[in-house]
Order: sequence, then structure tokens, then C-alpha cells
Amino acid sequence: MKNHNAPLTSRLPISKRILITLLVLISVFVFSTNRLVDYNENTFSFVRVETPGNFHWQECIPSVENVECGSIVVPKDYFNPDAGVATIALAKYKAKKSPRKGSVFVNPGGPGGPGALFVIASGSNLAKVIGDEWDIVGFDPRGIGSTRPATRCFSSLLENAVFFANTVIEQGITVSSISNLSSVLLYDELVEQHRQFLALKQAQAELCRKNMGDELKYMGTATVVRDIDFMSKALEGEDTKINYWGGSYGSILGAYLVNMLPRRIGYAVIDGIADPVNWSSDCEPSHKWPINWVSDAEKTYKLFLEDCSKAGPSLCPLTRYKDEPWQNLERRFEDFFDATARKPIPVPFGNRPGYLTSGGARGFLEVVLQRPAGWPLAAEVYSSAMAGNATQLYNLFIYRLPLPYRVDLTRLAVTCLDSPRPESLESFPTAESLTEQGLKSLREMSPHFGLSTGISEPDGGCQYWPVDGPERFTGPWNATLETKMLIVSNTADPITPMSSGILVNSLMPDSSVLVIQDGPGHTSFAMPSLCTAKLQRRYFAGDIPQNGTLCPVDVKTFPDEDSERSLQALSREDQELVDALKEIGEGLMHARFGFHE
Ligand SMILES: *[C@@H]1O[C@H](CO)[C@@H](O)[C@H](O)[C@H]1NC(C)=O
Ligand SMILES: *[C@@H]1O[C@H](CO)[C@@H](O)[C@H](O)[C@H]1NC(C)=O
Ligand SMILES: *[C@@H]1O[C@H](CO)[C@@H](O)[C@H](O)[C@H]1NC(C)=O
Ligand SMILES: *[C@@H]1O[C@H](CO)[C@@H](O)[C@H](O)[C@H]1NC(C)=O
Ligand SMILES: *[C@@H]1O[C@H](CO)[C@@H](O)[C@H](O)[C@H]1NC(C)=O
Repeated sequence: MKNHNAPLTSRLPISKRILITLLVLISVFVFSTNRLVDYNENTFSFVRVETPGNFHWQECIPSVENVECGSIVVPKDYFNPDAGVATIALAKYKAKKSPRKGSVFVNPGGPGGPGALFVIASGSNLAKVIGDEWDIVGFDPRGIGSTRPATRCFSSLLENAVFFANTVIEQGITVSSISNLSSVLLYDELVEQHRQFLALKQAQAELCRKNMGDELKYMGTATVVRDIDFMSKALEGEDTKINYWGGSYGSILGAYLVNMLPRRIGYAVIDGIADPVNWSSDCEPSHKWPINWVSDAEKTYKLFLEDCSKAGPSLCPLTRYKDEPWQNLERRFEDFFDATARKPIPVPFGNRPGYLTSGGARGFLEVVLQRPAGWPLAAEVYSSAMAGNATQLYNLFIYRLPLPYRVDLTRLAVTCLDSPRPESLESFPTAESLTEQGLKSLREMSPHFGLSTGISEPDGGCQYWPVDGPERFTGPWNATLETKMLIVSNTADPITPMSSGILVNSLMPDSSVLVIQDGPGHTSFAMPSLCTAKLQRRYFAGDIPQNGTLCPVDVKTFPDEDSERSLQALSREDQELVDALKEIGEGLMHARFGFHE
């Protein structure tokens, strides 16, 4: 998160500026990939025969050190050869050490995160964690990024951005006050907002039906698992095992992968675990998943407030004095959310004119909790908003052009195929039942954020989705693996709680180990931990950690002179690793949302 009021790139460190330039260039590249491929191969062959299994690598354009870009042709539908082909965009950070051990396929989450771009931006850092004897292969999953066909429900980026502007999808649901969850007034307000939500979802789905139709059928997680298998066989040979690293939604893809194809799996790491049983269950359509995700949100929130208070007002302006009771800070936040619910804050001079709602302010706080590296800046931004200037806060989360890569309904294109089909439209929720569910989540899971996941994870509305996929995987989740899978969970992850890591581990007690990182944030990369990183590094070298290993983090949430000094006391190699971990953390956030920085 950064101040967006200065020209975007001028305030960023050089590496960020390069990244952003890259992203812009890549989005140009995206739309010309096929042509480039044709021209670079046989000049005289005007018809390119796209046979599944064909792949090619070339320099990325623009070139990136030690990274090759490419694509591979795969069957569009693994159960119907007549459906034609899809082309998966790839980027490979090449092994530097020999003997080369093989490929590790990576997924940065989302769903909707473009893995090829993630490797282009973060490959050299990932190699410090995974090991430089591996090729690190990022791929844009079906429907996403430069993979074709791409999800294009909207006919233009402008239409896409305008559709979301100032809606309950962009700003999230406003809970006028959490002080009385039995209030009739609150109930009515929530129903009204959910009516808008459902109408928007229906409109989205109708656009997708018209502009995409059957092309939407092949974007579910089970199909992506088949792609990984197919790609691994094509790139590494029939019998070579699949190695995998996935964070956030990448943990869902990873859980599907190892349970669908247990005998194919070599090394697998999943980090920031979402519950795959709930995600895939026939009884849990996607609008129900978030209840489970926020069970550690309160714990993370309390850490944020406590750490802020301990840091004092010079580092965290949300506290009035050092060691102020954290409950005071919490109360000021609630007063702010309540006041904003009564009177949304006009933002005439944001990156786009508009207004900040209470739902937006609260929903973005749930996103902030996912990334402790951004807490000092978030503290400033929320302080300004509480003082009446919401420009920075608004700028941080609105959809705005050019929408470089959080494009279109890629997330929904995946989740609606993983979600069970409704038996009838009526079997899915009404605005009233979504309201009941939201109130239940506020009462039982997280009083502050039980209804606030929509702003970052806008699922639901799959009753309107126009297609079914060729396949849904619903378990079992107790596969036996030759090499144990490494599961990483944080003690305070506000969107993928530790209980989900424990669940996946308990379903595969002899085929997985759980490593716990003792700190806040979403995925282990949210806060650098040399311990977690080195365990992952050794894992990919064949050394499986003890189940239950607890790893500390190596930075403070509000860095001060002491914490800076202790970082400087580390060896140069460890300092570089800490920097790499920080950058991976940012890269993951970019890949998931595209709206930070
Ligand atoms: C909460 O709202 C309900 C229904 O509107 C009302 O009956 C009740 O008195 C309220 N409770 C408090 C503590 O204000
Ligand atoms: C999904 O999660 C919800 C909320 O925790 C729970 O009530 C439900 O039983 C879970 N369903 C499955 C199939 O795991
Ligand atoms: C609000 O904050 C923005 C960004 O920090 C700043 O540019 C602007 O001048 C502020 N507006 C007012 C009215 O203070
Ligand atoms: C795995 O789970 C399935 C379904 O719950 C069960 O039928 C099967 O026996 C289990 N397999 C093992 C090896 O435990
Ligand atoms: C692994 O360790 C965790 C944390 O100590 C524990 O909760 C879990 O039960 C252990 N798993 C197995 C399979 O023993």
C-alpha cells in the first residue's frame, strides 16, 4: 500500500518501478502473444497447428534476467477431445545450479492470480526459498492473465471498471453498527444491500453468458490440476513427479492436486491454508465459504491494535499515547465506522472521484490485517480518514483504470465451477438468507469482520452462473503420498485460519507435516521468517521438517530502531533472504489483488 496521490511510480523504490513498467509492458505483450509466437517460428507457415503438448520458450519481452517466457498447448477439455485446445502462459525462472532437479510449479493465489507474472516479478526471490537447483515455473491458470481463452465477460476495461464503481461489490457491505446485531434497522439495511449484491451478480453472470458462453466451462480447479499434470508430463517426461508450491488459493489448488493425483506428487508446499473440504463440498456453495475464513480475524485485529499501542504515536498515529489500552483504539475504529455509516465521506479528489462507505473502510481493514508490512502506512491512512480526509484510504482499494491485471471476473470463473450447482434458483440464497448468514458470521466468527470479506474475496451469486465444468472434485482428502506435503499456517492469519492447516494435516496425518509460523498476516511471507523460509528450502532438498515445528518471525510489525539493528546484525545472506521474503510477500499481494501499490 502506498500513497497514490503522487504519480504512482515516483514514490516507489526502483525495483517497484521496474515491476510496474514490466506489468504495463506485459499487458501489451499479453494481447500479442500468439502473433509473436507465430513470427518467431516458421515465417512461411500461416496456419499454426496447435497440438496439445506443443510448447515453446523464448526470451520474455521485455527480457528478464534468467527468466524465459512461453506457452503450452493443452486440451481444453480433458474429457472431450473435440472441444479444441487452450494455451497456457508460462514463465520459468531457470535453475542456476547443476544438477538441475526438475520443475516446481507455483500458484500465487486468487483465484485469479497470474502465476507467470508472479514468477517474472518474484522468480529470483522464490529461488532463495525453493532452491536454485529447480526451475520455478509459473503459469497463468485457465481463464487468467495471458492464458487463452481468457475470461472476458466485460467488453472493455472501461465497462469493467464502471460496473463496479461505488457498488456494494466494490465497497463491501456496510454494517451500520455492530453494537446491536438484533436491530431491525440493521437487518433491513443488510437485506437491501444484499439485494443490490445479488442483482449485480446476476448482471455479471448474464454478461458472461453472452460474451463467453461455453468457453467458461474449463476454469475450475479440477481442470487446472489436469493442466499441471499435463504440463509436467510434457515438460519433464511421463514419469517425473510433479513438484508444487502454492499460497492462499494456491493451497486449495495444492490440496486438490495431491488428492486427485497422489501417485504423481513429489514435493508439495502449501502456505496460507483455506479449507478444501468446505470449498469443494456439495453442501457449501461459494457464498458460504467466507464464514470459515475469518475465524482468526479477531486475533489478528487485536495484535494490530496492541502492536500499534506499544509502538506509540510516532510510529502508529492511531494511538494517542504509548501503551494506550488497545480497547480505546478499537472503540475509535467502531466510532469511525458508525459515523461513516451515517454519513459516508466524500472523496472528490481521489484517483477517481467518489465516496468512502463504512463497508469500504471496514472491509479494507480486513485486507490490511492480511499484510502486516503495510500496518505503519495503514495506521497513517486510517488516521487521516478518521480526521476527515479519506482520499488515501479510498485510493487504496477502488477499481480504477487501467486495471492492469485484476481484470474481469476471473475469480468467479473459478469459484463458480468449484461451487456446487444449485438445484434451482430458489435453492440458493435470497437477500434475507445472506443477511442471516452474515449476522451469524458476525455473532459467531468475527464481530468486526464477519461480513467484510467481500471487498477482497467477492464470491457468491453462482446460482446465476451460466455453465458447469466438466468435473468437480469433492474429495476424499486423505491421500497417501510418497513424500510428505509441507503445510504452513500462521497463528494469526485473518483470512486463512490455522484451523484449516490443522484440518488438512489431520486428514493426511502420515502424508503431511504442519509448520506453524508464530505471527500475523496471510501466508508465511506476510512477515519474513528465516526459520520458515529455511525449512521450506531444506524441504525441497529432501529434508522434511518435524510436524508441529513453530517458527518465529524476524521483523516487528511497526519497525523501530531496535528491530532495524537486529536485522543489521544478521549475516549478509540472511539479510538478503529477509529482503527476498518481503518482496515475495508483496508479489503475492499483487498477484491476488493487483490493487496494492
Ligand atoms: C436491539 O434491537 C432490538 C430490535 O430492534 C431492540 O428490541 C433492542 O432493544 C435493541 N437492544 C439494544 C441494547 O439497544
Ligand atoms: C463449512 O464451514 C461451516 C462454517 O464453519 C460449517 O458450519 C460447515 O459444517 C462446513 N462444512 C463442511 C462440509 O465442512
Ligand atoms: C487529503 O489527503 C490528500 C492525500 O494525503 C492530500 O493530497 C489532500 O490535500 C488532503 N485534502 C485536504 C482537504 O486536506
Ligand atoms: C479416505 O476417506 C474415504 C472417504 O472418507 C474413506 O472411504 C477411505 O477409507 C479413506 N482412506 C483411507 C486410506 O483412510
Ligand atoms: C502436527 O502438529 C500440530 C501442532 O502441534 C498438531 O496440532 C497436529 O495434531 C500434529 N499432526 C499430527 C498428524 O500429529
